Amino acid sequence: MDCSHIQFCTQKGKIDLEQLQELFKIGAFWARNRQQEDLKIAIDNSNPVVSIWDEAKLIGFARATSDGVYRAAIWDVVVHPDYRGLGLGGKLVETVLSHPSVNRVERVYLTTTHQQSFYKHIGFEYNDTTTMVLHNKSPYQLIESGNRELDVTSPY
Ligand SMILES: CC(C)(COP(=O)(O)OP(=O)(O)OC[C@H]1O[C@@H](n2cnc3c(N)ncnc32)[C@H](O)[C@@H]1OP(=O)(O)O)[C@@H](O)C(=O)NCCC(=O)NCCS
Repeated sequence: MDCSHIQFCTQKGKIDLEQLQELFKIGAFWARNRQQEDLKIAIDNSNPVVSIWDEAKLIGFARATSDGVYRAAIWDVVVHPDYRGLGLGGKLVETVLSHPSVNRVERVYLTTTHQQSFYKHIGFEYNDTTTMVLHNKSPYQLIESGNRELDVTSPY
């Protein structure tokens, strides 16, 4: 495939929530049921948010959260199934890692169920010792119960 017209973007404002929801439905098993209003909250609170575009079609997405110096985490890395194996996923993660919010952070974490080899290619190492998770209520239940401030992590 000729990828010369494919563009990477770090502007959050460009994200089309309907297309993002669709991309997650077909390409990201952990995020198939996400609602647009929640996706907007996640995007607003993430930095950077990187998207990949084939003309007006959203074909890739990744985001990170970071404290700017000690710790960052990468979330929701996905490339549209029709565009995989072309080097876009690697470039997507590299774009996140080179962003000023992430590039001087001491440790960058991510969780993955199936894609360890992909991330090893990029330089990530196995890390068995640190992962715990609290399965919190859904965002809607949280709002109903007074929005408890707890650390919510989404397992891949
Ligand atoms: C994982 C994913 C983002 C990779 O995107 P991609 O565009 O196909 O990846 P690339 O073409 O950039 O591959 C980069 C390198 O990793 C390798 N690679 C890609 N997927 C791999 C895999 N599953 N296992 C091993 N190596 C893999 C490629 O061979 C390539 O190697 P090279 O640089 O030596 O040529 C994509 O397969 C995807 O969206 N998967 C579904 C969603 C998902 O699981 N995301 C990760 C959540 S943690």
